[in-house]
Amino acid sequence: MAFKYHKPTRDKCEVCEELDRTITEKPIISTYVGKASSANNYPFHNWYNFVLGYVPDFPLYIINKYKITPEHTVLDPFMGTATTNVVAKGLGIPSYGVEANDYFIGVGKTKLTWNIDIEKLNRYYKKIQKRIYEIADEYKFDDAEDNLFSKSGTLKPYTEYNTYRPEGLEARYISDKPFAKLMIIRQAMSEVIKKSTPIEIYNFFHTAFTAIIVPSSNVSYGPGFGIKRARNDYDVFGLFEQKVTRMLGDLDNVKKSENRKTPFKIVHGDSRHLSEYIDESSIDCIITSPPYPGDHEYTKYTKLELMIEHDVVSKADFRVIKKRMLVGSTTNIYKECNDRVYVEGNPLIAEVTDEIQKRLEHDGATSGYEKLYTKLVWEYFGGMAIVLSEALKVLKKGGTFSLLVSDSHAFKMVHIRTAVILKDIALRLGYSDGLIELWQHKRSTSHGYNLREEILTLIK
Ligand SMILES: C[S@@+](CC[C@H](N)C(=O)[O-])C[C@H]1O[C@@H](n2cnc3c(N)ncnc32)[C@H](O)[C@@H]1O
Repeated sequence: MAFKYHKPTRDKCEVCEELDRTITEKPIISTYVGKASSANNYPFHNWYNFVLGYVPDFPLYIINKYKITPEHTVLDPFMGTATTNVVAKGLGIPSYGVEANDYFIGVGKTKLTWNIDIEKLNRYYKKIQKRIYEIADEYKFDDAEDNLFSKSGTLKPYTEYNTYRPEGLEARYISDKPFAKLMIIRQAMSEVIKKSTPIEIYNFFHTAFTAIIVPSSNVSYGPGFGIKRARNDYDVFGLFEQKVTRMLGDLDNVKKSENRKTPFKIVHGDSRHLSEYIDESSIDCIITSPPYPGDHEYTKYTKLELMIEHDVVSKADFRVIKKRMLVGSTTNIYKECNDRVYVEGNPLIAEVTDEIQKRLEHDGATSGYEKLYTKLVWEYFGGMAIVLSEALKVLKKGGTFSLLVSDSHAFKMVHIRTAVILKDIALRLGYSDGLIELWQHKRSTSHGYNLREEILTLIK
């Protein structure tokens, strides 16, 4: 089994049943564009597969609905892999992205750098590819191989590369052979890409390389972090070639587009400090999907990339990133967390946390993580209140803030209506209005209900 679900402790949700009975609106996703399926079907968006990313149809829907044009500026305060920004760029709309995870910064910059010398990229790629095969020829990957063709006369064991394994990145995560092949690609890249090489060329190959780490590993996301049955080998060099070819092809298709020069700015930071990065009253439209109270620990989704390419290895290293993030999981609550003060006394949150507490007591739940459930919910909404109030500062008057969020059953199956609570918080903070639309129903794998994924649009 890939990973264990927390078993739901209730099997009936009265809120879901009431919603199903009373609300009959059609999900937008079923009528809008119609082909919204996976980001993997779209150029640029498929350069890196982020399981928690959303389809480009969502930002497109908002941009069309609120008539956002190249005269406007868009922001995604939880940028992830820059889906919103790539859609905006395709339409010539300038954008900002703010993201806490170190790894996504390079991915975002690469996906948005269209004004790049493709011939030069090709020349670099040819050199890298040549070096990959030269280095690989020095190693014995196949038991049937003998040393007849090695220049040195003796093939070296590929397990030599295990000395490059970051501490804690065991073979169950990524088997020895594919790991050695990834290290060969990295070695070839570091020989060809010098300090004087333009940063966008480094970013391009860095993104292509890191994007094939998970497909070369035993890790799966379904959507939680899991480990599959170990596979001894993967066609890692083939995956790299496919990735680079696809990326070059997408860039080639936009090389004459006016939008290749559309400006963007990416900030590595914490959205609870938005107004420190972005000028007041400068943004027309915010489009994002923030974390939601679903007990997801976001650094896990890039664990391998962070370990292999960013030297984020120890618990302390991960903690630095986790502290920059909103509390969305019991594993990123720290003693000093105190965002809850921004929503203290909110009756909708109190209703949810009282019910969670009641169920915990009824079930005699005593585990350490269960005891943190109510704190997590308060901290999450407190953190979102800070982001909402920071967004009020950077938005122009009349500007819109659209958030894609899902309802949650993660804590003792108490139904959390995320969009409804966020709207309540936002109106108290001074937004003039809020609209909730059903984007889609999300199939839940752990119980029989489909949870609502909704778009909350707030107006300044
Ligand atoms: C649901 S994902 C966004 C997905 C993204 N729109 C995409 O298509 O890839 C939420 C993102 O918020 C980031 N995040 C969480 N807390 C943050 C914070 N306080 N400031 C900035 N980014 C944060 C996470 O690292 C994650 O990438």
